[in-house]
Amino acid sequence: MDNFEHNRESWNELTALHAESSFYDVEGFKNGKTSLNHIEIKELGDVKGKKLLHLQCHFGLDTLSLARQGAEVVGVDISDLSIQKANDLSHELDIPAKFVRSNIYDIEKVLDETFDIVYVSYGAINWLDDLDKWAKIISRYLKPDGMFYMVEFHPFRYMLNEESEIHYSYFKSKPFETVVENSYTEKSEIKNKDLKHIEWHHSLSEVINSLIGSGLKIEFLNEFSYQIYNCFPNLVEDEEGKWVSEKYGNKIPLMYSIKAKKD
Ligand SMILES: C[S@@+](CC[C@H](N)C(=O)[O-])C[C@H]1O[C@@H](n2cnc3c(N)ncnc32)[C@H](O)[C@@H]1O
Repeated sequence: MDNFEHNRESWNELTALHAESSFYDVEGFKNGKTSLNHIEIKELGDVKGKKLLHLQCHFGLDTLSLARQGAEVVGVDISDLSIQKANDLSHELDIPAKFVRSNIYDIEKVLDETFDIVYVSYGAINWLDDLDKWAKIISRYLKPDGMFYMVEFHPFRYMLNEESEIHYSYFKSKPFETVVENSYTEKSEIKNKDLKHIEWHHSLSEVINSLIGSGLKIEFLNEFSYQIYNCFPNLVEDEEGKWVSEKYGNKIPLMYSIKAKKD
């Protein structure tokens, strides 16, 4: 099995847990709650009437939230179960959306359109080995004058071990493998003990330079001293909905966002 097949298998298993978790709060979503956070809502701006491609959409909550805001959405994910659940939610709630199962790197085999916005969020690029290839795909799917927006966990965070000490390299890593024992949601018991995650670390310069190299013009890069999810070890709630490092407080970056334009 190659690296991506391992991740496809593990994300299939995780999706089943996530759809039942209070972390993802599918019931709340069904009752009209958005799954988007204040950062992306503010920074993305008005998406009404825009064609939007969501890369690594998981089981579609953010994609469908963006559809509720008036965007015409397509979500892509490698996980079969994620795409199945996303389609189920779209039909059940009568929210128009198209979901496509594909490895991001194979997307051209299954999708031939262009978009006003390409969107990527939280916990996505660590599953990708080649960001130059990723950025070319983003550029390929943007219309002229189209916007790329991403909000992600900060690479600084990935340097810390369970004791919040600097342990891992900041810079691009060889693939690192972990046995999937649990998830970041509260319903986290993994039954299949043979699942593996394969991930890569990417520095900020690697992300930015890949986007510049694909012809995009960076409009902003923002860094945040907090997390909006309590999904890493050793975080404490600073203000409501803002999780900071227990050890370093708001002295270290935990998330970042980027907006870029295609000429
Ligand atoms: C942490 S989730 C994305 C988080 C998303 N913001 C959410 O709403 O939960 C990561 C997603 O990336 C997907 N993924 C991982 N590797 C991929 C790849 N090579 N191509 C497409 N999707 C991939 C996984 O299946 C998973 O659904």
